[in-house]
Amino acid sequence: MTDDATHTTAVGSIPRRIKDLLSKPIEPDNNSIIVQGWLRTRRDSKGGFSFLQINDGSCLENLQVIADNSLEEYEATVLKLSAGCSVSITGIIKKSEGKQAIEMQANSVQLVGEIDDPSAYPISKKRHSFEFLREVAHLRPRTNTFGAVTRVRHHCAQAIHRYLDENHYYWVNTPIITASDCEGAGELFKVSTLDFCNLPLTNPDKQSEADTQKAVDFSQDFFSKQTYLTVSGQLNVEAFCLALSRVYTFGPTFRAENSNTSRHLAEFWMVEPELAFATLDDICKLSESFLKSVVHSVLDHCEDDIAFFNQRIDKHLLARLTNLVDQPFEQITYSEAIELLKDSSEKFEYPVKWGLDLQSEHERYISEKHVKGPVIVRDYPSDIKAFYMRQNDDGRTCAAMDLLAPGIGEIIGGSQREERLTQLDEKLTAHGLSEDLYWYRDLRRYGTVPHGGFGLGFERLLNYLTGLDNIRDVIPFPRAPGNAGF
Ligand code: 4AD
Ligand code: MG
Repeated sequence: MTDDATHTTAVGSIPRRIKDLLSKPIEPDNNSIIVQGWLRTRRDSKGGFSFLQINDGSCLENLQVIADNSLEEYEATVLKLSAGCSVSITGIIKKSEGKQAIEMQANSVQLVGEIDDPSAYPISKKRHSFEFLREVAHLRPRTNTFGAVTRVRHHCAQAIHRYLDENHYYWVNTPIITASDCEGAGELFKVSTLDFCNLPLTNPDKQSEADTQKAVDFSQDFFSKQTYLTVSGQLNVEAFCLALSRVYTFGPTFRAENSNTSRHLAEFWMVEPELAFATLDDICKLSESFLKSVVHSVLDHCEDDIAFFNQRIDKHLLARLTNLVDQPFEQITYSEAIELLKDSSEKFEYPVKWGLDLQSEHERYISEKHVKGPVIVRDYPSDIKAFYMRQNDDGRTCAAMDLLAPGIGEIIGGSQREERLTQLDEKLTAHGLSEDLYWYRDLRRYGTVPHGGFGLGFERLLNYLTGLDNIRDVIPFPRAPGNAGF
């Protein structure tokens, strides 16, 4: 491909999106148009022409192009086209005699970027396993599945912003680099410019090797203190909530938990709305209305892609999504959840006991077998939840909520926040956070209000929306333990 070649194509002529051509078929006429994209397949007919299937990513379907052997470039170009090469084709649209409504009759076929070695091109026509495609994450956007995932991801993000905008939530861009562990789970990636081979120590002479870690002098680091990649934007967004009433943050978050599962990423996106003058009931209602609206909007905007997932990935997908939109979410308390798990005849790997956290198998049993739909579990024991959650009057549970969905487990985690200074101070002291989070404490000293919010794992929602099983298949370039190649 030369620069000249690219420029010639673009001058004076805007290429048409294949989606527009196929969804709003133009009346066949003799006006030439240009289509640009990547060749999926070429089939040469004995009748003296070739069928080219072109995809430009705008939709699932390909445009069929007929290239006659009367074309000047037929032998030199058309017969050399192989799957994956990029092309720019000028031609006229006509009614198709095949199963598609229209097709293009080519006047000229230009090869823009060839395939270096067709036998080595990893994305050939045959269906590849998702495991294999993860190894070629830079080329998998060219497959039907990842094209569809990308479009659904886009529309889902748009639907999230739209819902929140229409409901008067302001988007606040909270920092990625932070000095605090919001969730208190200690799953933090460190951020540092210190020289790992020559770490500055606070008291170099007296440190034994085992103590070196504790003795690193972070005052010499970039931020003059220890810093991390954020696990959640919540604490920062609360500051804006207590001024603008309705806010949200939506961005990447990072967790260094070593869970090599199909539900965990080291880098994932989270949307976190935060609402002032609100109780746990309001947060539960918001989560239901929010999720239903987003799913509804994706069903509206991505009909073809969802139909594809329904056909190829999960035959129950459409029914499950429609069910989510139509049915009220059930709510149960954590204590009720423990009772129903105990009463079930199911064999669980992890113990079920009041005070222990629900494991994925428990969450899935509750939503898949017991409720058979999305369910909100609320009022968890304080001891297994984050320090910022509001203590309930019973003294042992807190105003927490998790939304569990069939097939996935937890999609949303949220709570009413502890807005009372005395109670928050107890928690901050117990967790040794009083010093670092003095500013968070200030929010309770100056004009505190009851407030709360939740975090929705964007990729977990995408698993739910596509029926794809593995979270690594719904993010462009997954980051997981031992996996940051692309
Ligand atoms: O329940 P989590 O830890 O809640 C918070 O971070 C709160 N600060 C949210 C808030 O109240 N503003 O995480 C929220 C959601 C989970 O329900 C899950 O969907 C997703 O984030 N999540 C992950 N997704 C992918 N990979 C991981 N490692 C995840 N950890 C959490
Ligand atoms: Mg959670």
